[in-house]
Amino acid sequence: MERDGSEVVVVTGASAGIGRAVAREFARHGAKVGLLARGTDGLEGAVRDVEAAGGEALAIPTDVADYEQVEEAASRVERELGPIDVWVNDAMTTVFAPFKEITPREFRRATEVTYLGAVYGTKVALERMLPRDRGTIVQVGSAMAYRSIPLQAPYCGAKHAMKGFTDSLRVELKHDGSNVHVTMVQLPGLNTPQFDHCESKMPNKPQPVPPIYQPEVAARGVYWAAHHRRRELYVGISAVLTIEGNKFLPGFGDWYLARTGYDSQQTDEPADPDRPSNLFEPVPGDAGAHGRFDGMAHGRSPQLWATTHRGALLAAGVAGLAGLYALLRSR
Ligand SMILES: NC(=O)c1ccc[n+]([C@@H]2O[C@H](COP(=O)([O-])OP(=O)(O)OC[C@H]3O[C@@H](n4cnc5c(N)ncnc54)[C@H](OP(=O)(O)O)[C@@H]3O)[C@@H](O)[C@H]2O)c1
Repeated sequence: MERDGSEVVVVTGASAGIGRAVAREFARHGAKVGLLARGTDGLEGAVRDVEAAGGEALAIPTDVADYEQVEEAASRVERELGPIDVWVNDAMTTVFAPFKEITPREFRRATEVTYLGAVYGTKVALERMLPRDRGTIVQVGSAMAYRSIPLQAPYCGAKHAMKGFTDSLRVELKHDGSNVHVTMVQLPGLNTPQFDHCESKMPNKPQPVPPIYQPEVAARGVYWAAHHRRRELYVGISAVLTIEGNKFLPGFGDWYLARTGYDSQQTDEPADPDRPSNLFEPVPGDAGAHGRFDGMAHGRSPQLWATTHRGALLAAGVAGLAGLYALLRSR
């Protein structure tokens, strides 16, 4: 599916966190990468990263909550880089707070960026991919697309909506016999800067629910999902356990999270009440891909390796069983 050295990819939310790591991962494979986000400092850093990794970069300052800007960005990518092969919807923002403390304006904005931004990205990508009957759209999801947690109502709502929307679209593509592929990558807690620049009303600094993985683990998952026709890809054993556990014991999850979910999402350090947030405007500076949890974040996921090597594992299992059978028969 990959066209050697000439794959054209668009990554929304490419200036920081997972999007930044995803842009680098595609660049490592020689892709031309359209980088969409608002902050010019982060976009300039992403351009440097992509070029250093061997890719070609085109940064386009874009607010994904504005459909016209997303459409214009897609046109520019196709004019300057070529037909889009892969579109990755990664951009997000949120408000860490109990729902009762979030204003309607804040809730709408988090939803417009995190959910509608992905819908708009999907729309402009499809308009170009459907006539060519090829291309892949990757939705960057979360275990929270299945299992909601406290203090993250706008985010969990948006990720559930993204999954519902994507499931609907997938069936429509199948109905039409289209070769365009849409997939969703459900991620675990990750060491990204979102916990320092998303709006928070919590007394202490926010943190992802442990275990925490490095953004490169997510990026490898997104890259793999963009080049295989898997319906969804779960990344990290914690994402698998959260999603599968919630299918069988949702009430237990409610009980458990009511007891632990406030503490597990905050460190012991008091938050700075004046720190800027990226909800309506980008925060100045280049945040990069990593957050402040390098000391505790896992750089590998055996589960991701296993799920992306299912064929090899099955073959090894069959060979092992055949060997055992032969051994037993020879006695
Ligand atoms: N970190 C985790 O624990 C975790 C866990 C599961 C899933 N994920 C998923 O990973 C993805 C990225 O999250 P992250 O943790 O990497 O967040 P992040 O570090 O805060 O990065 C978010 C990116 O979105 C961009 N963005 C925000 N508002 C935007 C807007 N209005 N228009 C365009 N771009 C906008 C930001 O750039 P600008 O501010 O420059 O625009 C930034 O590049 C999300 O889809 C999230 O659901 C993260």
